[in-house]
Amino acid sequence: MTEEKFTKKILCIGAGYVGGPTMAMIAAKCPQYKITVVDIDENKIAAWQSDELPIYEPGLLDVVKQARGRNLFFTTELEKNIKESEIIFVSVNTPTKTFGEGAGKSADLQYWEKCARDIRGASESDKIIVEKSTLPVKTAIAMERILSANDKGLHFEVVSNPEFLAEGTAIRDLENPDRVLIGSKETDSGLNAREEIVEIFANWIPRDRLITSNLMSAELSKLVANSFLAQRISSINSISALCEIVDADVNEVANAIGKDSRIGNRFLNASVGFGGSCFKKDILNLVYLCETFGLFEVAAYWESVVKMNEYQETRFVKIITKALFNTVTNKRIALFGFAFKANTSDTRESPAFYITKKLMEEKANVVISDPKAIDNAKKDLKYYNDDIEYEEDPYKAADKSHAIAVLTEWDLYKNLDYEKIYGKMEKPAFIFDGRNILDHKKLFEIGFNVYPLGKPHLIHFKDV
Ligand SMILES: NC(=O)c1ccc[n+]([C@@H]2O[C@H](COP(=O)([O-])OP(=O)(O)OC[C@H]3O[C@@H](n4cnc5c(N)ncnc54)[C@H](O)[C@@H]3O)[C@@H](O)[C@H]2O)c1
Repeated sequence: MTEEKFTKKILCIGAGYVGGPTMAMIAAKCPQYKITVVDIDENKIAAWQSDELPIYEPGLLDVVKQARGRNLFFTTELEKNIKESEIIFVSVNTPTKTFGEGAGKSADLQYWEKCARDIRGASESDKIIVEKSTLPVKTAIAMERILSANDKGLHFEVVSNPEFLAEGTAIRDLENPDRVLIGSKETDSGLNAREEIVEIFANWIPRDRLITSNLMSAELSKLVANSFLAQRISSINSISALCEIVDADVNEVANAIGKDSRIGNRFLNASVGFGGSCFKKDILNLVYLCETFGLFEVAAYWESVVKMNEYQETRFVKIITKALFNTVTNKRIALFGFAFKANTSDTRESPAFYITKKLMEEKANVVISDPKAIDNAKKDLKYYNDDIEYEEDPYKAADKSHAIAVLTEWDLYKNLDYEKIYGKMEKPAFIFDGRNILDHKKLFEIGFNVYPLGKPHLIHFKDV
């Protein structure tokens, strides 16, 4: 298709875990639009242009290949692309602030504000700006103020379209989302902009799943959705601690409560904790917002979700140490999985990071295994790299180890030959299943001492 034939020209600033896959999906579904994705990171853009994409996500390469070079383009050239686009999605990172006022809780909006100023500087026509990043409530208003302070008489309409995809299932989520949320001001120009964005998604998503709202509701809904999801994980994890003491089985409890349609059965797997770049950051963002408005009880309520997650990570390390006769020093411990969840290479806020650090402090010999996340693990643990072994092959990682800890629910770990692994481990051999994905009874019969989460421990000698 020639440039003139494209019915919309869309730009996305930020080619990360959200910008890359979302734009690839829009481009694949809408060949009539020209989609350009821009990033300041040249290496990342080069990777998007190759078959070695910068992120691992099942099915992503196929979707990218359908559209790349046809109506999907990756570039570092910002100014020219701002000029020629009618709609600009902004999908840059919004990490937790590490300095100054709000440090440790509020969002660091420096990348976001820079985008607003870049857009204002380069624009020569009116545009719709779409917030794709997760942002504190009222950021759209602030953005509009920055954009409106131009002397070119240009009008920028800011729309909020928070992304609800989950890493590991991003392609499925983008192709068939539960809902897409589009918030705007309820003025004529706001409603027109809202409809333009609705039109994009209506190319493949049924209209009844395209929800619209005012700007603040859209921004807040994203923070609340992640806070509720994380809260469910912390809730079941809190119960897992009790189950271990009273000989209940957390899976049986989860099954029993999940049958209640008011509760539902999803997100009830006990685990070593939630991770990822979003849950903790977004809850803390909500906490900060509540504190700012004097809602201290509300803030404390949500903050406890993060505290429970930290408690679960600490508890897991304590279980390992106690089982290994109260010392892990000089013991080889194989960590199966470093990604924060299965089917992603993303290690941001992974519980595995915290657990590795704690084990290193106790001078354990840690071996990290993961099918996709070893490169990221090495970056995260750069200060420890001389003392950590990385081994993609789980059999080699477990060789001569005293214990295995499963930290990511990769399918791969369910189907290993654990008899063979057991044969090559130090005895007594221990396995700590931080995701409850293994066949515990079978492992026990092989000879392992088995420590699932929230279930009775299966040990061959009296518990220490
Ligand atoms: N990762 C997820 O699963 C997920 C899901 C929903 C929402 N979100 C939200 O989406 C936003 C992006 O998250 P992500 O995981 O894609 O982050 P990311 O770090 O993977 O990607 C952000 C990209 O923006 C680029 N960038 C930063 N400033 C730039 C600028 N001025 N110009 C051009 N590029 C710039 C960075 O180089 C980076 O590649 C965040 O607000 C996040 O909270 C993330």
